[in-house]
Amino acid sequence: MTTIPAMSDPLLEPFQLKHLSLRNRIFSSAHEPAYGVEGMPTDRYRLYHEEKARGGVALTMTAGSAVVAEDSPPAFGNLHAYKDEIVPWIQRLTDGVHEHGAACMIQITHMGRRTGFAQGDWLPIVAASPLREPAHRTAPKEAEDWDLERIVTKYADAAERMQAGGMDGIELQSYGHFMDGFWSPATNQRVDEWGGPEENLRRFPLAVMRAIRARVGANFIVGIRMTFDETITSGIDETNAVSKLAQLESEGLIDFVNVIRGTTFTDTLLTEVIPIHGMPAAPHLDFTGRIRDTTNLPVLHAAKVDDVATARHSLREGKVDLIGMTRAQLADPHLVRKIIDGHEDRIRPCVGATYCLDRIYEAGEALCIHNAATSREASMPHDIPRAAATRRVVVVGAGPAGLEAARVAGERGHDVVVLEAMPWPGGQINLATRNPRRVDLKGIVDWRVAELARLGVELCFNTFADADMITALAPEVVIIATGGQPQFPHLDDGAEHVVTAWDVIGGDVTPTGQVLLFDEHGRHSALTAAEMIARSGAELEIVTPERMLGIDIGGLNHVPYARAFNETDTRITLNQRVFAVRPELGRLCIELGSDQSTHRTTRHVDTVVVDHGTLPLDELYFELKARSTNLGAVDYDAMLNARPQQTVRNVDGEFELYRIGDAVAGRNIHAAIFDALRLLKDV
Ligand SMILES: Cc1cc2nc3c(=O)[nH]c(=O)nc-3n(C[C@H](O)[C@H](O)[C@H](O)COP(=O)(O)O)c2cc1C
Ligand code: SF4
Repeated sequence: MTTIPAMSDPLLEPFQLKHLSLRNRIFSSAHEPAYGVEGMPTDRYRLYHEEKARGGVALTMTAGSAVVAEDSPPAFGNLHAYKDEIVPWIQRLTDGVHEHGAACMIQITHMGRRTGFAQGDWLPIVAASPLREPAHRTAPKEAEDWDLERIVTKYADAAERMQAGGMDGIELQSYGHFMDGFWSPATNQRVDEWGGPEENLRRFPLAVMRAIRARVGANFIVGIRMTFDETITSGIDETNAVSKLAQLESEGLIDFVNVIRGTTFTDTLLTEVIPIHGMPAAPHLDFTGRIRDTTNLPVLHAAKVDDVATARHSLREGKVDLIGMTRAQLADPHLVRKIIDGHEDRIRPCVGATYCLDRIYEAGEALCIHNAATSREASMPHDIPRAAATRRVVVVGAGPAGLEAARVAGERGHDVVVLEAMPWPGGQINLATRNPRRVDLKGIVDWRVAELARLGVELCFNTFADADMITALAPEVVIIATGGQPQFPHLDDGAEHVVTAWDVIGGDVTPTGQVLLFDEHGRHSALTAAEMIARSGAELEIVTPERMLGIDIGGLNHVPYARAFNETDTRITLNQRVFAVRPELGRLCIELGSDQSTHRTTRHVDTVVVDHGTLPLDELYFELKARSTNLGAVDYDAMLNARPQQTVRNVDGEFELYRIGDAVAGRNIHAAIFDALRLLKDV
């Protein structure tokens, strides 16, 4: 990869935002990672942003929808900007970020109908008009005069708190929330002075922004992240939005604009604003450039600019003043530092999996699929320290767990060899990437393989390791990362007549005719197989005992699967399981039933595909166990408290032995990588 000398790199040019000097052009846009504790940005939150500041980012926009009022319940772990007690926490956060030379701002908002009522203080949800929001299944009340007065004041109060906490500025979220709900004819159907003609539609947002400016003064930076095209019927369009912005600019209410195209009230619309893997990169960059041509305000933008070349292009071509690389820095908070140091090729790539965003709803915290240190800065290092002494480490398996173990051990300075039975690395990621939409997941493998080459770690392919081969290598530490193999669901009859999702994904079986896929796993493997079958032209029915399809797949990742199943008329049957499969006249007769009743029904199909997760491939581990000093035991207390493993259960043992990833139990990529990082960082 060519590395552009730092001096001529447009990404590294400083930028003057009003009185604020920014050290380069890369920022992290607002994203609520849900790391707060009871709405406060405590240590985990601060350390997460400090790491990016240490890593060179110019500006980190903290929070993401920090809520200005109690009746904006925290839908995804939002910060409580309406509480005075937040100020000292904000001060600690801004001090920490400033110490490392980055600017720090915060996005504030009232989420209006984009939240649920059954959280926080359980206050009724308000919106410009009483229109249900599909994404949160919320039925808001129409905001009354006293709500509007209250919320205007709440905005100004929150802005003042953020200023008091040392923030360099604030950003107003204005796409799909309460304030911009008034701006858009699609969401404002009022017949009073707050609705109707354009002048009325502007009244409430202007009241908010005027109140904020009056409160914080001319010298505090106030920006807006607004949609310039809602892409929906009766929504805000480009001409209208540009004219709105012109008014904000001419009144001096706003100091920068962060361009959004689209809106957020369904997961499908949200994927257009925050594109996931399989979608085009930088889809709104040219559009943003057009907006920039209409204003003198600094223009910011973020939407799947996940590689440095595209970011550089965005500046060189004058599309933006600052480019957001948000998930890219979740994946690698040291991204800017690597550009500065001429190590662009070492940036851990964002692979667009959007596990991070899906998790704020599914599990209440953003985690990167392949950087287990992100958000765990208090205990997990992004830069792995060298060990005091070099040890001989043998890793068996080059899937995500094995590759990460080898990388971390290599960074520790150990003498590492990886043995892989297949002719290539990647393990189950090679299956996931058979889905063309998910091919970017290869980055998880490629980045590690490149790092291993740099670290001098030996990778041996086509090497089916056995106990003798391993002992011959005289290891001090053996890591078993042999992964898993598909397991079959329990059937009363006919297990021999089914094939697995892996058979389909791997290309060993191509089902035709009528196909039934029984998903008792709820993850990507089942739906990837289903997508491949549906797209191949076969007639597919997906059956799951769960109450929803792909129960462990998040909302944004669900969208392309749902699209595939809709476009192919795939039949989806919930709350049903396969009890038996019996051959009948050259086809298969399936007995279906549910956990809820004894009622049974049948289907006749050509192929039955099942997904029931994996069972560990653990033979080698058990073969080696008796030869190890620790007999395979992991001292969890030591591991969780950053102490080396020192368990000795067999004084005659020859090496320490650990197994990680799916070789222990079927889980996911993040779990495999986290297993490896937290164990090996102290080996
Ligand atoms: C975990 C997560 C939470 C987010 N929360 C917000 C939010 O509260 N407000 C907002 O304006 N954008 C939010 N975003 C969107 C990001 O600001 C950004 O627009 C998006 O990630 C696309 O930029 P990227 O491709 O550089 O990541 C969130 C993104 C992520 C990943
Ligand atoms: S989870 Fe995926 S999208 Fe999110 S930061 Fe990590 S690699 Fe990027």
